[in-house]
Amino acid sequence: MRVVTMAARKGGAGKSTLSILLAALFARANLKTVLIDADAGQHTACAWSGQRELGWPLVVAAADPDELALLIGHARERMLDFCLIDTPAGRTTVTDAALAAADIVIVPTKCDVADRWALQATVDDVNALEKPYLVVPTEVPAKRLGIEALDLRRLRRDMADLGDALWDEQITDRRSISYDLAAGRVPSETDWSGLTNTECRALWRRIMDILQRPQPLS
Ligand SMILES: Nc1ncnc2c1ncn2[C@@H]1O[C@H](COP(=O)(O)OP(=O)(O)OP(=O)(O)O)[C@@H](O)[C@H]1O
Ligand SMILES: [Mg+2]
Repeated sequence: MRVVTMAARKGGAGKSTLSILLAALFARANLKTVLIDADAGQHTACAWSGQRELGWPLVVAAADPDELALLIGHARERMLDFCLIDTPAGRTTVTDAALAAADIVIVPTKCDVADRWALQATVDDVNALEKPYLVVPTEVPAKRLGIEALDLRRLRRDMADLGDALWDEQITDRRSISYDLAAGRVPSETDWSGLTNTECRALWRRIMDILQRPQPLS
């Protein structure tokens, strides 16, 4: 089983949205997937799951590090394929536990200046644990004639040190995502070949590339 932790100290970076999109995409591909909602203050993933009729992905809540460890253990026993963990903003004990359990950390970030400033702190948390990670630009204005929006180009300039840990693609700003979520759906179910799902599939491929890379022995 692979553990994919979504983390960003910045609130509203897109953690919950991306964790739901990916979990549902994996489930749609017949991979046994659990999404652990470790954000007790909001429970966005649980609220989305409450709107759904489909049983996959499983969505369960973890209120603290002990519950999180228990749920990850259950998922391993049941030999699930993926365990995604949505974490709260800020630095919390449950986020630390989710980072420690991760095979890969996905760090969503918007491109506003406050997001750019906050990003380094999250990257430092992940680097301290020597975890593979990928920074994913989210809610990015659509490309025009194939050219990325100015804010994303600024993010790439400011965070050039990240190298290929900053994903070279983007999750574009789309209102339809929130309409889908409100109905307990996701773009992989409503619009398979649409932009959001195409981007999510590209992200999945990138995640698999990183997971399959040999990791340095510690
Ligand atoms: N690609 C996108 N297009 C349009 N809106 C988006 C996109 N990604 C996220 N959003 C919106 O941004 C807001 C914040 O997203 P989300 O709740 O996923 O962030 P978060 O990091 O989980 O926030 P928090 O730190 O509060 O838990 C939501 O209103 C969501 O609908
Ligand atoms: Mg959230």
